[in-house]
Amino acid sequence: MFNKEVYTKRRNKLQTMLSSGVVLILGNNEVSYNYPDNTYRWRQDSNFSYFFGLNLQGLAGIIDIDNNEHIIFGTELTVDDIVWMGSQPTLKENAAKAGINITREYSTLQTYLNEAVNKGRKIHFLPPYRGEHYLELEKLLGINYCAVNRYVSKELVKAVISLREIKEDVEIEEIEKAVLTAYDMHTTAMKMAKTGVYEYEIAGTIEGIALKHNNFISFPVILSINGQTLHNHSHSNLLKEGRMLVVDAGAETELLYASDITRSIPVGGKFNSRQKDIYEAVLAANMKGIENIRIGQNNVDNHIAAVTTLLEHLKELKMVKGNVHDAVMNGAGGFFMPHGLGHQMGMDVHDMEGLGENLVGYDKNLERSTIPGIRSLRMGKKLKKGHVFTVEPGCYFIPELFNQWKSQGMCTEFINYDVVEKYLDFGGIRIEDDVLVTDDKARVLGKPIPKTVKEIENICD
Ligand code: GLY
Ligand code: MN
Repeated sequence: MFNKEVYTKRRNKLQTMLSSGVVLILGNNEVSYNYPDNTYRWRQDSNFSYFFGLNLQGLAGIIDIDNNEHIIFGTELTVDDIVWMGSQPTLKENAAKAGINITREYSTLQTYLNEAVNKGRKIHFLPPYRGEHYLELEKLLGINYCAVNRYVSKELVKAVISLREIKEDVEIEEIEKAVLTAYDMHTTAMKMAKTGVYEYEIAGTIEGIALKHNNFISFPVILSINGQTLHNHSHSNLLKEGRMLVVDAGAETELLYASDITRSIPVGGKFNSRQKDIYEAVLAANMKGIENIRIGQNNVDNHIAAVTTLLEHLKELKMVKGNVHDAVMNGAGGFFMPHGLGHQMGMDVHDMEGLGENLVGYDKNLERSTIPGIRSLRMGKKLKKGHVFTVEPGCYFIPELFNQWKSQGMCTEFINYDVVEKYLDFGGIRIEDDVLVTDDKARVLGKPIPKTVKEIENICD
């Protein structure tokens, strides 16, 4: 945990942002995997951890705005629990670590909330994302689980986003630790990317590296020689000469901060000329996306600039024709790069996405685009100092998308389908870094991970 002052300050700040009422934040409980006692790996709720710091099961946190009271609801372990789980600090001792001196039995939470509701007080809660929390909110607040989303507090959602999206120095340090682990994961993958190795051998090894650092993976590892499938979670292929291995993987620290890095490696460690051409195009887009970052600028403009750079390179390869900016604004970028340039990152790898993708990535001055590619951008809004997000351009040759676009005559004034057809066996390339908006530009977080053709070829050697 951070110092208790960190959590107290966050709760006090939140209190000033809401007019009145009671904030209820549920922590996460164990969830069964294949029989009741065999559970998934447990993970605390990010919002609970942000305001209350305690990465323990069975807790709920209350911030009473009107009475300036912060309370942890939980259950003391019995001797029977201790026999299986060992002795643990008491609820009071744990709550004190988060700067809270009021604790209550979890079984009294319902009565506490009922009393507040009966007095006409508003209970602010965030959108749930686990079935258990829908049922718990139904039990605690008497709202049918199907209707729970209608009662989510928009005021609380907006306040939480505006707090969590500006990273504190202690959070940046955690994210940099997560990138350091990712350095180890990615450089190991580079060294292992040889012909005759199975994807799962590398995926298993790098997941183990995250654990070896007392971290976890921040999302299921994407590692595939079929990198044209953007989120390919299968690891069953044998590596073959001539394929690019896309590795999109990050770590999550003990305090739940993420990294999210992608590198693309030629199997065998040496780029052939075709691979080099596409790689340099994506690298130029990655660097453009990073160089362009400025406080006050809409990140959608960085997306457009990065994709324009990508398409300028593809024009040199004769895959793209015509005015490149017009090509991007007419959706041709979405053919080569169907996803957005990036997303916010912090305690969640797609930070706060559970609070609403558009609320996190867009603001009242900026509507989400409907143009292919640009419409998939998660982080589009005006950049502020302290924002952390990814810059992750890619270039993909997806045969099914090719067939659809070509047969429908999409963007024929900008895409040379005859040339693109020759690349349908290519796969894909993505290059992703995690960046922080500073006073004057962007800082790429963490120890630099090999990225240029030369750096990758050297480490694979
Ligand atoms: N790294 C996975 C993603 O950004 O969706
Ligand atoms: Mn990402």
